[in-house]
Amino acid sequence: MIKQERMQIIKQQQIAHHIFELTVKGTLANEMAEPGQFVHIRVADSFEPLLRRPISVASIDLEASQFTMIYRAEGRGTQLLAEKTAGDTLDVLGPLGHGFPVEEAVKRAYLIGGGIGVPPLYELAKQLNARGIETVHILGFESKQAVFYEDKFRELGDTHIATVDGSHGTQGFVTHILNELPTDFDTYYSCGPTAMLEAVQWAYPQKKGFLSYEQRMGCGIGACFACVCRTTKSETDYIKVCSDGPVFPAGVVIT
Ligand code: FES
Repeated sequence: MIKQERMQIIKQQQIAHHIFELTVKGTLANEMAEPGQFVHIRVADSFEPLLRRPISVASIDLEASQFTMIYRAEGRGTQLLAEKTAGDTLDVLGPLGHGFPVEEAVKRAYLIGGGIGVPPLYELAKQLNARGIETVHILGFESKQAVFYEDKFRELGDTHIATVDGSHGTQGFVTHILNELPTDFDTYYSCGPTAMLEAVQWAYPQKKGFLSYEQRMGCGIGACFACVCRTTKSETDYIKVCSDGPVFPAGVVIT
């Protein structure tokens, strides 16, 4: 069930260049079911900035009624969010959208993420591991300074890192790593920039895949049409990334 709640900030810290990790507590956390769902946060109590910011969820702790988000502080809204500290409260709407279907993986899954698309894959990896699914993580970042959660992913499975400038791991994009890896997996899950999602789909046309799209959003609940994309079904068919997604089976969304 979607809730709106003033949640308490438990912890906020910078974990990489422009990247922040924020943990909040409240009953809304207990509504979270699927990895890959997101929340919509009002970053200021004033009317400016007016719109909420969609932030992805990196891990969920149902017992503690907490969840942790990871975001990049780059625009005015997220910079205001980065100024909040433990003890502050935050107006949160969520959980929103449909996440990754964990029940689709059978034995071994590839989790492929780029930049700020990496966080939802962490909760996904945890939930897949809990179901006995082996996860392999292929994560791309701009540079060493931008890398986060590498050790946490390593604790859950085989982890490969690519950086665009080659300052850490393989130089290039996640696709450079995919070219070197075996294809002995049954399902892939991916989240990141649209160009990366396209490349991943092209790499594995025969595999079952699920992609989480990053799209500009307004309302976050399916009411404003800001996030509409066309689909492969027909010329006139469209989906709303916020409420129909953000996760879709591979081959459905036209970007
Ligand atoms: Fe308003 Fe999707 S953001 S419909």
